[in-house]
Amino acid sequence: MTVMITGGAGFIGSHICVELIQAGRNVVVYDNFCNSHPEVINRIRRITGTAPEVVKGDVRDVEALISALSAHRFSAVIHLAGLKSVADSVTSSAEYYDCNVVGTLRLAQAMQQTGVRNIVFSSSATVYGEPDVLPLREDHKLAPFSPYGRTKLQAEELLSDIAHSLPPLNVVILRYFNPVGSHESGLIGEDPNDVPNNLMPYISRVAIGRLPVLNVFGNDYPTSDGTGIRDYVHVVDLAAGHVAALDHVHKQKVLKVNLGTGRGTSVLELVDAYTAVSGRTIPFAFAPRRAGDIASYYASGDVAEETLGWRARRDISDMCRDAWNWQQKNPNGYLDQ
Ligand code: WQD
Repeated sequence: MTVMITGGAGFIGSHICVELIQAGRNVVVYDNFCNSHPEVINRIRRITGTAPEVVKGDVRDVEALISALSAHRFSAVIHLAGLKSVADSVTSSAEYYDCNVVGTLRLAQAMQQTGVRNIVFSSSATVYGEPDVLPLREDHKLAPFSPYGRTKLQAEELLSDIAHSLPPLNVVILRYFNPVGSHESGLIGEDPNDVPNNLMPYISRVAIGRLPVLNVFGNDYPTSDGTGIRDYVHVVDLAAGHVAALDHVHKQKVLKVNLGTGRGTSVLELVDAYTAVSGRTIPFAFAPRRAGDIASYYASGDVAEETLGWRARRDISDMCRDAWNWQQKNPNGYLDQ
């Protein structure tokens, strides 16, 4: 049976492709390439020996989805296609609702019309909003405070309702914390367009010399060293979590699972770890807090372990080592073909 990965040419999607192909599964990538590079498909082939079939399309195009879903016997869809910048979601809210919410609805409708019953959905820890208690458990209140977070929560809710409608779907919702790192080959990795919003790719570009200095957004948070704490999870561990979810999705109606390590790491701790594995000094300067940032955020991984048998295996040094390996081998990202 075949698995469709919407957004499969992206940072997380490409790593899931590799894991699934190496687990012997057939994979079809459905991607509009708005935030990914066609070279990724060639890199997946170089790693696995197999290039996934690619359908260029938009998740809001129901006819294209129905056509793609009718071309094979699909056991499931992994739905990653979406926009993911918190800052951009403030300035381009309509586009975020159209892509993340309407796109998810159109995919669900196309699945219902083609008899594909199982979906694994890429959600985000931002659906929780300001934490009342840490670590964050799946039953924590849901109070996203960005348009991006609200689109992810609304997509979760529409999938949950459709799961109990006719024809029903089986849904696993994976709430990502902070995916970082890259495949050990250094052939696929995180390659943001323009200047990275996120910490790890920004540090990598400082280390390689593409950016002069890291701005540390706030050093007066109530944390161990005053800088923001996050739950960084290796992207290969995250990909393995999707493989585990595929093996579980048909067994239940709706399951919500955090994919994090259960450990928090501060900005300065990440900088130190990156320096230790790369040997590169990362110049940094303290800057004002970034709007919308939260002091501390990390997951409880208990539900993932109890239901999917999944636990993150790689640590911060592994994440920094693999991020640096990718950056060294691809100083200009996928433009280095
Ligand atoms: C991490 C820490 C910053 C950049 C975002 C999205 C979230 C999810 C993961 C999709 C924070 C600090 C950052 C920099 C810094 N994406 N930082 N200087 O904000 O936790 O989460 O990515 O689901 O939805 O919000 O990740 O990497 O941007 O920030 O000091 O140049 O690094 O303040 O403490 P974040 P991040």
